[in-house]
Amino acid sequence: MGLDLEYINHQTALDEDEKEGLLIKSISTRAELDEFEQQNIERAIAWTMKKRFKISDILNEEFVRKLHKKMFDQTWRWAGEYRKTNKNIGVDKFYIGIEIKNLLDDCKFWVENKSFSEDEIAIRFKHRMVHIHPFPNGNGRHSRLIADVLIEQGFGKPVFSWGSGSLAPQCDLRSEYLSALFEADKDNYEPLIKFARK
Ligand SMILES: Nc1ncnc2c1ncn2[C@@H]1O[C@H](COP(=O)(O)OP(=O)(O)OP(=O)(O)O)[C@@H](O)[C@H]1O
Ligand SMILES: [Mg+2]
Repeated sequence: MGLDLEYINHQTALDEDEKEGLLIKSISTRAELDEFEQQNIERAIAWTMKKRFKISDILNEEFVRKLHKKMFDQTWRWAGEYRKTNKNIGVDKFYIGIEIKNLLDDCKFWVENKSFSEDEIAIRFKHRMVHIHPFPNGNGRHSRLIADVLIEQGFGKPVFSWGSGSLAPQCDLRSEYLSALFEADKDNYEPLIKFARK
């Protein structure tokens, strides 16, 4: 079976030039890629746990990119770099930088003004992040991990459960997760907030 990076269940398809960014040439199946990415992400989680990040350390552009880089640096050459092509999801590539800056400013405002509960701030941040879709791939996982770092290290609360199961394609939880995201697209954050603590 060849490397299958098709658009499945709302996963972003990779462009030819992005497939070329694969650092491990021996990877030939989707399962091998998933496994490799997972190990890379586990190293990134270990890195976040060794550090103590304050809210101001997390809510800046350098951290947004650095976290993605740490999650995928052994797997993809473009880890930590914003996408250079447009996708079926996300803002136009030209607006990624400005949209990220707006999101970081908004999130700092929510924190300073206690606009929402801490869970809701982290979930709104996660949703806007994945909506911008800054990176060629890994946006879902990056947005969930950055929300986990914000809630745990920034706010001192337990990390999210994200439905307490696999969100891989074809898993039942994935459709529930995507439905909750679609509600958040319509400004209804309750389903995603509940899902994140399920
Ligand atoms: N219509 C949509 N609106 C908002 N977000 C979406 C939509 N469809 C998919 N997503 C988000 O985009 C993510 C997929 O993007 P991408 O492939 O870059 O991330 P990933 O980390 O590889 O995927 P996953 O979240 O499955 O681990 C989904 O997990 C979901 O969070
Ligand atoms: Mg993907």
